[in-house]
Amino acid sequence: MSLVELDRVSVHFSRGQRRTRSDTVHALDDVTLTINPGEVLGIVGESGCGKTTLGRVIVGLERPTSGEVVVRGVKRSRNQRPGANARNDGFQMVYQDAAGSLNPWKRIGWSIGEPLQNEGLGKTERRRRVTELLDQVGLPGQMIDRYPGELSGGQQQRAAIARALASKPRLIVLDEAVSSLDMSTQAQVLNLLKDLADQHPVNYVFISHDIAAVDFMSDRVAVMYLGKIVELQNSAKGTAPLLHPYSITLRSAVPVPDPVVERGRSRIVLTGPVASASDLPSGCRFHTRCPIAQPVCSEEEPVLTEHQLDTSVACHFAGEFEHLYRRSSNSKTQP
Ligand SMILES: Nc1ncnc2c1ncn2[C@@H]1O[C@H](COP(=O)(O)OP(=O)(O)OP(=O)(O)O)[C@@H](O)[C@H]1O
Ligand code: SF4
Ligand SMILES: [Mg+2]
Repeated sequence: MSLVELDRVSVHFSRGQRRTRSDTVHALDDVTLTINPGEVLGIVGESGCGKTTLGRVIVGLERPTSGEVVVRGVKRSRNQRPGANARNDGFQMVYQDAAGSLNPWKRIGWSIGEPLQNEGLGKTERRRRVTELLDQVGLPGQMIDRYPGELSGGQQQRAAIARALASKPRLIVLDEAVSSLDMSTQAQVLNLLKDLADQHPVNYVFISHDIAAVDFMSDRVAVMYLGKIVELQNSAKGTAPLLHPYSITLRSAVPVPDPVVERGRSRIVLTGPVASASDLPSGCRFHTRCPIAQPVCSEEEPVLTEHQLDTSVACHFAGEFEHLYRRSSNSKTQP
């Protein structure tokens, strides 16, 4: 049985009183996806494409405007308060701003142990559990009596992860959880998360704008653009390259370790206006920037369709990027 299923989920926000078309922000539109037990689902896309909103819907902190969320076979109630859903389902979220989830006026031990308060543990037992959690995330025991302001960014992030782990969650959505850290601390925290997943039966949804980090962490990847999933890997990674022009553009920006291969590669730079989630373009939402857009692209919206068993893609020209890109580059360079 799937851990979470989203069935045609949309989240629209209204700005202002008038609720005209341009006052409606399409943060998510028609998102259908499944999270299977034991897997890490990566979600990647640029700023404003709806990653956090999707993460909040999965955890149960945001109620969909339409569509259904099914958790372990049971439809999530629309009448529950969003926070109550997260608690009942055993889901947690860790944000980029780790300091935000740690009370600045309380010691680290208090913040990590807060989710244990309802478990009826004595003070000594709670302190023991917090020390254990500190150890699991690689923080020394004496941190228990420090205040958040006395910790580095990486240490705060580890403390936030320890707090999320305290209630033994089934699923943690990590929303840009390592993005603010320097490269070496990022690598340490990513490795830590992987190790923790081996020790605990916990699922991750790993959200980032950095496709290299998403590739490293995830079994399957969902690529988002302007509120839509434009590409979704259907099976564990290593089986299929990403095929959507936007995914290919994201991947082209990641350096390859082999210097010879790297010298021969070129980065695809997107030009064209970035559309807004409150004023969506007709047809394919990416057509204003797509390097291989054709006339049909501004007229018909492509549907996310299975393309070679491993990947579903929303593009009229899935799998045809190379020759269309070459053709469009040649026509630009010809006098
Ligand atoms: N509470 C809200 N009210 C109105 N609009 C919102 C609200 N929350 C998000 N949005 C809008 O919804 C869209 C998606 O936002 P979201 O935060 O999910 O994007 P994101 O991919 O997480 O971006 P980032 O990478 O910058 O964190 C954006 O246009 C954003 O401005
Ligand atoms: S449908 Fe057209 S514009 Fe959209 S990604 Fe595919 S080729 Fe580009
Ligand atoms: Mg976000």
